[in-house]
Amino acid sequence: MLKNTIKYLLIPAIALILTAKIYDITNGFLTKGTSFGKSENVGKALIGGEFLLTNQNGESIKDTDYRGKLMLVYFGFTNCPDVCPTDLARITEVMKALGDKADNVQPIFITVDPERDTVEKMKEYAANFYPKLQALTGSKESIEKIASAYKVFHQKAEDQENQNYSVEHSAYIYLMGKDGQYITHFKSEQGVDEIARLIGKHF
Ligand code: NI
Repeated sequence: MLKNTIKYLLIPAIALILTAKIYDITNGFLTKGTSFGKSENVGKALIGGEFLLTNQNGESIKDTDYRGKLMLVYFGFTNCPDVCPTDLARITEVMKALGDKADNVQPIFITVDPERDTVEKMKEYAANFYPKLQALTGSKESIEKIASAYKVFHQKAEDQENQNYSVEHSAYIYLMGKDGQYITHFKSEQGVDEIARLIGKHF
């Protein structure tokens, strides 16, 4: 009886600590040296950077290919059960909501699981979302470099049950300017209309 009580108290407590820790890590990464909510210009240089990756059609894509357009950049992995598909569907809806202005915006999905997310896998996955979405993969090193440039937290979580693994990751939609510089990022609680409106301020 006592054993059970302890178990029931302990499990939520551990879960809470773990959640808080991940929250701290992701927020710590993002907010270090930046001041969100104060000015969009503060800490601009701290998020984002150069990349040279491969899209779902096997073509080389680099960040400078989209100068003159806004970029919506999202990191995730194709085996993600819920967060990534939800966010990529949201990006798709945002693009549709932009109407004929959508040409000014390039949505980009970068995998944090290059080991499993091959070009073929990315092609199959990207077909579920906005047609213009660039789904990028690359070597472990190049993915590591760009994820760290965007201050993206990601960590493999082994799943003993099915000999598989999941990847915990921060899930922000980054808005990058026509010059490639960071403007802002959107969180999961922000809706399609709000995001489309905020993007519209930067055309
Ligand atoms: Ni995900």
